[in-house]
Amino acid sequence: MLIWSEEYAIHEPSIDELHKKLFDLTNKLTKAIEEGDNVFIADLFDTLEMYTLYHFSGEEHVMNISNYPLLNEHEALHQELTKQFHDFKDKYSHKNIEDFSTIKAFLESWLRNHILKEDLKFGKYLKENKLNKN
Ligand SMILES: [Fe+2]
Ligand SMILES: [Fe+2]
Repeated sequence: MLIWSEEYAIHEPSIDELHKKLFDLTNKLTKAIEEGDNVFIADLFDTLEMYTLYHFSGEEHVMNISNYPLLNEHEALHQELTKQFHDFKDKYSHKNIEDFSTIKAFLESWLRNHILKEDLKFGKYLKENKLNKN
């Protein structure tokens, strides 16, 4: 289960709220898969994918208006994550991955590592340039 805590904080409220919501959706999806709730699984996969795209574009917008120098690299990482999720969803729906611990490990690390490594770099940039709001 993903639990949002200060270690994930960018200190840009709009982005932190998006990340909390993504954690929540991921937990719902993992739980639905564990319980074999097929109606919810398909819906949650779609919702998580859409919400991820929404979050990426929101994040890129904040980076853009903050003149973040690593914006291009960050956009490329978002594209790579989008592809990874899409491939994972595809494999899952074709029953090419059925082991729950593998599924759970992918879903929980897929965005988490990006937030901890890359999004936090942006948080640091905001702080150093006194652009953050709290
Ligand atoms: Fe993010
Ligand atoms: Fe990001």
